[in-house]
Amino acid sequence: MDSNGDGIGDLNGITSKIGYLKELGVDVVWLSPIYRSPNDDNGYDISGYREIMGDFGTMEDFDRMLDALHAQGIKLVMDLVVNHTSDEHDWFKEACQSKNNPYRDYYIWSRPGEDGGPPNNWEAAFSGSAWEYHQPTGEYYLHMFSKKQPDLNWENPKVRAEVYDLMRFWLDKGVDGFRMDVITLISKPFTPDGRLPSAAIVRDGFLQPGFSMVANGPRLFEFLREMNREVLSRYAGLITVGEAPIATTQQGNELTDIETGVLDMIFHFEHMEADYAKGIDGGKWVPASLDLIEFKDIITRWQVELHGRGWNSLYLCNHDQPRPVSRFGDEGLYRVESAKMLATFLHGLQGTPYIYQGEEIGMTNMPFSSIEQCRDIESINMYRVATTVQGKPPEQVLAAIRAKGRDNARTPMQWSAAPHAGFTTGVPWIEANPNSKEVNVDAALADPNSIFHFYRQLIALRKSNRILVDGEYSLLLREHREIYAYMRTLGADRWLIVCNFGAGSPEFSLPNSEHFTSARLVIANYPLSPTHEARSFTLRPYEARIYQLL
Ligand code: GLC
Ligand code: CA
Repeated sequence: MDSNGDGIGDLNGITSKIGYLKELGVDVVWLSPIYRSPNDDNGYDISGYREIMGDFGTMEDFDRMLDALHAQGIKLVMDLVVNHTSDEHDWFKEACQSKNNPYRDYYIWSRPGEDGGPPNNWEAAFSGSAWEYHQPTGEYYLHMFSKKQPDLNWENPKVRAEVYDLMRFWLDKGVDGFRMDVITLISKPFTPDGRLPSAAIVRDGFLQPGFSMVANGPRLFEFLREMNREVLSRYAGLITVGEAPIATTQQGNELTDIETGVLDMIFHFEHMEADYAKGIDGGKWVPASLDLIEFKDIITRWQVELHGRGWNSLYLCNHDQPRPVSRFGDEGLYRVESAKMLATFLHGLQGTPYIYQGEEIGMTNMPFSSIEQCRDIESINMYRVATTVQGKPPEQVLAAIRAKGRDNARTPMQWSAAPHAGFTTGVPWIEANPNSKEVNVDAALADPNSIFHFYRQLIALRKSNRILVDGEYSLLLREHREIYAYMRTLGADRWLIVCNFGAGSPEFSLPNSEHFTSARLVIANYPLSPTHEARSFTLRPYEARIYQLL
């Protein structure tokens, strides 16, 4: 929410909407980075860790927002972006002065490779080599993201001390925890002679994906244990969630183990990749439809393997993902039904659910018709490489951005039917979705059957039913291609969650092994007659039900 008409959402805008968050029932707000930043990557390139980005307000605005959240019983989790800084951070500016500057070793530098080019074959997440040549000192620096995001050298104890210090700065202000940006990338796989080896070649003649080389590096646990000892363990009741690309369930368990873990939970990406095209020519940008069985297998593996040991985070969206109703549901005819179905699916699982702004009113992807409308460096760089180097038709590349681009999640929050979705009285930094006339908070609050009120009910259910927190998960009907059904069990209590992931009308039938004498309907996204059948029934498009089996 933009409070001053400059077209950019800000801290005072958030403060003005805390009542809305409270009504929804949220306990914690996770804020994307609000620190000083030249904004090469929407604030994930920080040039001042103890300062607020001017566009977003002042430190006084921040303090007021934090107090106002706490007054409503809502905690605040800040984004901690410490795999890299901005190239405009003073540390990096110093590091560039000379090879023996005291800050040189805050970053990762390397002599050119044998051929005079980059030191290895890694590709950065936002296209191009992960190495940028620094002419004046004749060395390359590593950046796993954009070249304006140089990676910090965690081998250097001074870097770690700086990070712990800035964490204490925010915790001393009273923030309640951190969402740690790409935290599993911080330990790089240096060879004994200090080099970073090339990745195995999976695409002949091209750069190779670098993430597989740096994820879960050799000293990751040691660093996070140290962070716990030096910082986290000194504050009570913190929440930590680590972003963990390429994490397996085993790593998920190790990181979040209730006894020996170093984080409360992680964001893994496996289910977010279930609709990626497979193979080396596949990936995020190649259109592919969701294989529901694969999706179930992934979710089930995380549910079953972490139960009783680690802890899951549950999400279908965030600032890096397209809108779930467009991606896994139906943004047209069944927008309301499918958004509620996805919410039911997510809130029935074990773990901590994350709702991304606008998900609770069923905001959809943006119909981008030109690259000029996009703001995200990932999409813009990909578009440039795809349409020039790879010679792909612009329309095809735009279609991929419409389906998967991160800007889908970054268009203005749709508050009302007013111009620019009621987000700003000025011109927004990125266009609002034209469907804001129908899809907006005002309309959602006024309609008792809205997606918003359905989310509110699901959140309330989790707060009053232990089974949703602690109950064991078991998958039903694994082979079914349209229905995702599962049980939660806690002692003698059993809940059945049935979700139709498609627009068809499949038959659901509870396996005979599950006995019950009566079924209490807990929540559903379609009207049902009081005498309806609960053991077998025909599902309507995107229908979802939760029953308690008695
Ligand atoms: C994480 C953030 C993403 C950012 C990247 C680099 O994946 O969620 O938005 O671009 O890290 O910081
Ligand atoms: Ca503003």
